Amino acid sequence: MRAVTWHGRRNVSVDTVPDPQIKEPTDAIIRVTSTNICGSDLHLYEVLGAFMSPGDILGHEAMGVVEEVGDQVDQLAVGDRVVIPFNISCGHCFMCGHGLQSQCETTQNRDQGTGAALFGYSKLYGEVAGGQAEYLRVPQANYTHIKVPAEGSDDRFVYLSDVLPTAWQGLEYAEVPDDGTLVVLGLGPIGSMACRIAAHRNRHRVIGVDLVADRLDRARPYCDDVIDLRSGDLVERVLAQTDGRGADAVIDAVGMEAHGSPVAEFAQTAAGYLPSPVGRAVMRNAGVDRLAALHTAVELVRRGGTISLSGVYGGAADPLNMMVLFDKQIQLRMGQANVKRWVPDIMPLLTDDDPLGVDTFATHRLPLSAAPQAYDTFQKKADGMIKVVLKP
Ligand SMILES: NC(=O)c1ccc[n+]([C@@H]2O[C@H](COP(=O)([O-])OP(=O)(O)OC[C@H]3O[C@@H](n4cnc5c(N)ncnc54)[C@H](O)[C@@H]3O)[C@@H](O)[C@H]2O)c1
Ligand SMILES: [Zn+2]
Ligand SMILES: [Zn+2]
Repeated sequence: MRAVTWHGRRNVSVDTVPDPQIKEPTDAIIRVTSTNICGSDLHLYEVLGAFMSPGDILGHEAMGVVEEVGDQVDQLAVGDRVVIPFNISCGHCFMCGHGLQSQCETTQNRDQGTGAALFGYSKLYGEVAGGQAEYLRVPQANYTHIKVPAEGSDDRFVYLSDVLPTAWQGLEYAEVPDDGTLVVLGLGPIGSMACRIAAHRNRHRVIGVDLVADRLDRARPYCDDVIDLRSGDLVERVLAQTDGRGADAVIDAVGMEAHGSPVAEFAQTAAGYLPSPVGRAVMRNAGVDRLAALHTAVELVRRGGTISLSGVYGGAADPLNMMVLFDKQIQLRMGQANVKRWVPDIMPLLTDDDPLGVDTFATHRLPLSAAPQAYDTFQKKADGMIKVVLKP
């Protein structure tokens, strides 16, 4: 089959690789019909390369049709149309039972000290082949799937794999009080979807922040205000709209590659040029994140408010101002989205009237073969590219 494979920093290609096979009786194989590129893939493309091996298949936002099931799979049948959550979870362990599917104890990577296995996400998360491919092996398939109706475009459902539950969790964790103010930092797919969900709920004032003009424009209809980071008066404008207190909650939908952290950017880039085993050791022990967005969140949130991190962080030696966090009595919540937990809340919104605008959310629909160019364009935030759906 054809698949998008990682070969080095900013180097992916579309190769012919062996078709996936059922390995465990709990596996299923799906034929992929749509598969997205995510901001999280950009971290693998750039700063987390030390945890990748050449030839790893990328991708964790796939949907398609069941082709084959293992002997113990009784919750799926050949021909079912499914979206595959980005985390692989069993549905019956303690963590899954507590709605913490991203910490599933059956698929946790104990050798790496990390949570549930993820599709296409490096040695840190189980080195499971990803979904930017014609076919995908789905472990723990009895639970690791979301059945969707046979009718309706792929666009209607494909964001259940990641964007929708991640944005939903970001908002739930933010716990914005009714009539409170929410700032969303970063208006990529995750931040802009968080704004759309907040607008749909219509209970908060929403302020979106980014530094890319087309991303600000796209979020504007869903926000009470959008602020260009480059304007230099972000803090003043948020304070002016909140009686001088700051926002009740801030969602950081930026993460470890934030614009505006030159020292950490240099350190990340330097680590990226080390041979993989050395680079891995450096990242594990001394790795740093670009914390500009998190620092901004700390500045913007009011005393006693909440910061909800959707953006992925991976540094081991990040300097955080604990004095300010403690003094302002800030609540911090974070983590990979527990995809299956939020599906029952989201599914009723995926209807013909399309309140979240999923049908038109993709800015680019491209063949799988265009993936190398698409990674490059998406990383550069060029050509108005905000969300790419690849068609194998
Ligand atoms: N928690 C999860 O389960 C989960 C799931 C999916 C994605 N993510 C993470 O969420 C983050 C966003 O993902 P995405 O797909 O929207 O990616 P993206 O890279 O398209 O979006 C990031 C946005 O942040 C903006 N930005 C950069 N620096 C900024 C700053 N200092 N202040 C404000 N905005 C800034 C960028 O211009 C960009 O629009 C990534 O870190 C990704 O890894 C987490
Ligand atoms: Zn994703
Ligand atoms: Zn589990």
